[in-house]
Amino acid sequence: MSRVFSGIKPSGSVHLGNLLGALRNWVDLQDRAETVYCVVDLHALTAPQDPAELRASTLSLTQMLVAVGLDPDRCTLFVQSHVHEHSECAWLMECTAAFGELRRMTQFKDKSDQAGFVSGGLFTYPALQAADILLYDTDEVPVGEDQRQHIELTRDIAERFNSRYGDTFVVPEAVVPPAGARVMDLQQPDNKMSKSEDSPQGSISLLDEPAAVEKKVKRAVTDSDGEVRYDVEAKPGVSNLLSILGAATGRGPAEAAEGIERYGDLKAATAEAVIEMLRPIQARYHDLADDPAETSRLLAVGADKAAEVASATLERARHNIGLLGR
Ligand code: AMP
Ligand code: TRP
Repeated sequence: MSRVFSGIKPSGSVHLGNLLGALRNWVDLQDRAETVYCVVDLHALTAPQDPAELRASTLSLTQMLVAVGLDPDRCTLFVQSHVHEHSECAWLMECTAAFGELRRMTQFKDKSDQAGFVSGGLFTYPALQAADILLYDTDEVPVGEDQRQHIELTRDIAERFNSRYGDTFVVPEAVVPPAGARVMDLQQPDNKMSKSEDSPQGSISLLDEPAAVEKKVKRAVTDSDGEVRYDVEAKPGVSNLLSILGAATGRGPAEAAEGIERYGDLKAATAEAVIEMLRPIQARYHDLADDPAETSRLLAVGADKAAEVASATLERARHNIGLLGR
């Protein structure tokens, strides 16, 4: 059976782009692969965090992942910092990655241009990500398009390690969903939807109340020609709404346009479909949020399951690279 690994950072609220671009894929993969999913709190530390908020978002992200359909009985769900092998293996990865390779990562370039404080961890971020993936003998990594370069680097690190020190790591592959699963900002449909702190009106959080969803969709930017038609180049705003409506109702975007003539009707249908899709997720989330002790319990089980695999892989890597056993 193929092994799947992916991770998500506990910073900001989970949005519609995360759900349609990544998380729905994670849920489906549970049926046909051995799946390992990780809340990557160490990666969140690459930017300064409020300690109490980081703890709270790590717990609430876990609850949201279960609410969207991750089933701790069928997948391994855990917090990165609970399995110390990740930090330890990251050092081996840092020493296998070339400085020039890390410097070429576009996510580092973008984020270090924007950030006031650029940590050393922001630079070595992809080495920790490589450790995450390689510790689980991962075959497939389901991620959005933006992560493809990090997975390529992970492959290069694995191949270099294997050729220097002998066969140690499985070389993984990125699994990126079809182009339609890239959800754009409702206010700036040329940019991808991102955390609501960056664009409060353009991003739909999975926890938005029905009235908020309706308001954001109603105010979404469209265009002035008045025709409901899927054409990403000419009509990015309308096409984004059609993608969302389609994804929320299990259809393609062109199909979702059938029978809709006016922008007002498109917006009403999209808002209703999103509200209906989020309703059961929000209900489950609120039940789970009422019982944080249960979430901590399932994370402890997840960490034990993860550590069993990770410690065996790390032991192999330690031995092969020449660290003395004790
Ligand atoms: P992040 O929110 O950056 O931690 O991303 C978590 C996952 O969601 C990654 O696999 C991303 O590639 C994916 N993702 C983030 N934003 C979008 C978006 N607007 N559309 C589709 N996928 C996304
Ligand atoms: N870098 C990923 C992101 O920003 C999160 C991540 C960390 C990840 N470790 C991972 C994704 C391992 C896939 C596999 O979305």
